[in-house]
Amino acid sequence: MASLELSGVRKAFGSTPVLDDISLSLEAREFIAFLGPSGSGKSTLLRIIAGLESADAGEITLEGQRIDHLPPGQRGVAMVFQHYALYPHMTVRENMAFGLRNARVAKDEIESRVGDAARALEIEELLDRKPGQLSGGQRQRVAIGRALVKHPKIFLLDEPLSNLDAALRMRTRVELAQLRQKVDAAVIMVTHDQAEAMTLADRIVVMNDRTIQQVGPPMEIYERPANVFVAQFVGSPAMTLLPAEPVEGRSQNAKLKLGDGAEVETAVPRSQLKDGELRIGLRPENVRVIAKSKATTRAKVELVERLGERTLIYGRLSNGQAIIAEDEGNSRVKMGDEVGIKIDGAAAHVFDADGTSHHARGRAK
Ligand SMILES: Nc1ncnc2c1ncn2[C@@H]1O[C@H](COP(=O)(O)OP(=O)(O)OP(=O)(O)O)[C@@H](O)[C@H]1O
Ligand SMILES: [Mg+2]
Repeated sequence: MASLELSGVRKAFGSTPVLDDISLSLEAREFIAFLGPSGSGKSTLLRIIAGLESADAGEITLEGQRIDHLPPGQRGVAMVFQHYALYPHMTVRENMAFGLRNARVAKDEIESRVGDAARALEIEELLDRKPGQLSGGQRQRVAIGRALVKHPKIFLLDEPLSNLDAALRMRTRVELAQLRQKVDAAVIMVTHDQAEAMTLADRIVVMNDRTIQQVGPPMEIYERPANVFVAQFVGSPAMTLLPAEPVEGRSQNAKLKLGDGAEVETAVPRSQLKDGELRIGLRPENVRVIAKSKATTRAKVELVERLGERTLIYGRLSNGQAIIAEDEGNSRVKMGDEVGIKIDGAAAHVFDADGTSHHARGRAK
């Protein structure tokens, strides 16, 4: 049975719609990430699930029971906020026990739950300290611990790592992944960090324009983005998008001509494409620097970004369109060079004018 089910959830603040017809179901113990740009309604949706905000329409059920009319404390969910605050005058132990004491849970039970959570989070030796004596990452873990002790069916985490510096973020990400193995609950985590979503989530829910754009496992979102928005939003650096025209011919798969005249044989069946303007989408790893004699086309190099294991080449085609290519780690390419590039047409994505996507048949849905 699906653990959490949302159907037809809508929300407007005054006359401004924020969520339109959101439907989603979560499996028990599933880790879901809400990924989307700022203002796309991620926190609002999470708050609606938590009961901190009411929806204008729609239903929410948890393990088959309607919960949308229940107050937050009775929903079986626990939330860690985007801007969480610990009580500064209380110890870590007291902070973690506070909610349970309010709910009149027995003292022994509180002690045992706080102990278990502290062990899972590896903060046992910090239990008698005050928040002011903790590092950012430790405070973050205490905030998660406060939710953990409630034994929720679902954890709702709103940007749980956003207050941490890069190194700590990475470490806490790993800890979150490990913690996840120990906890018998589903997790919904809001983030605008796609690496975080890709690393932690079983499925990613990509949100934009008040709606869910796509739901799927991380690699499906990356390899088979449902539309132009998802294609551009997921992946770093973003996919190169170029206007393209179909070339007449008898091959089953579409052959497309780029603005500089280069032709690319895609693996997308001609018959799938709608009339009208097309765009081709190319991930950097599918555009390789190569000897000019073997190249699909050429690009003038504007920027060389060395990442160690690979090098990203930001260039322009002869008609001025920007394209990002990849080269090996010890690339000899320099700014101002003209390089040959080989486009892997079989890996190319094709978008109709309305943004619908087409992918190679081999990876068909
Ligand atoms: N209480 C409120 N009253 C009016 N408008 C609100 C309220 N809360 C949120 N909004 C608006 O709703 C939209 C969605 O906000 P929300 O906080 O859900 O976005 P988000 O995806 O979490 O963004 P971020 O990544 O910046 O946290 C925004 O346009 C925001 O301005
Ligand atoms: Mg938010």
